[in-house]
Amino acid sequence: MKFSDEFEQRFTEMLGHYPTKRSVLVPTLLYAQDEVGFLSDEVVTEIAGRLALTELEVRNVISYYSMLTTKPRGKYNVQVCTNIACMLRGGEELLQHCSKKLGIGHKGTTPDGLFTLEEVECIGGCSWAPAVQVNYDFHENLTVEQMDKVLDDCKRKETQ
Ligand code: FES
Repeated sequence: MKFSDEFEQRFTEMLGHYPTKRSVLVPTLLYAQDEVGFLSDEVVTEIAGRLALTELEVRNVISYYSMLTTKPRGKYNVQVCTNIACMLRGGEELLQHCSKKLGIGHKGTTPDGLFTLEEVECIGGCSWAPAVQVNYDFHENLTVEQMDKVLDDCKRKETQ
């Protein structure tokens, strides 16, 4: 399968930085997921082959990390933390609000493929709860109005 030149450059660079091929598995999966959108069977086969691992070994790692997925997701993966600190500061309400606004539940994807919604465990932003992660961006101390702005900004980016 063919990845971009950027992916290939990163992959080659990483191999030189680690003592074993296996060590680059997680970052390679992340880069591949960013490029393809999810870790398809084809991606798993390709990466297992490149790193001299079995597909089962690769799938075991994928299933351990919640940021890795073998199913297609929306372009914006909205992860709302409802763990204790966030729950006490409105995380559950934020989740319900997002669910209503986007018309999808946990792990659902909007029909236009723009958003996937996920209820997640602590994302390390407890001091600034409630916290939400959209792809690699963190949003903290969120109100419902600010959450709307985050979602609307994502939508706006797509129409520009
Ligand atoms: S409990 Fe929500 S970020 Fe830690």
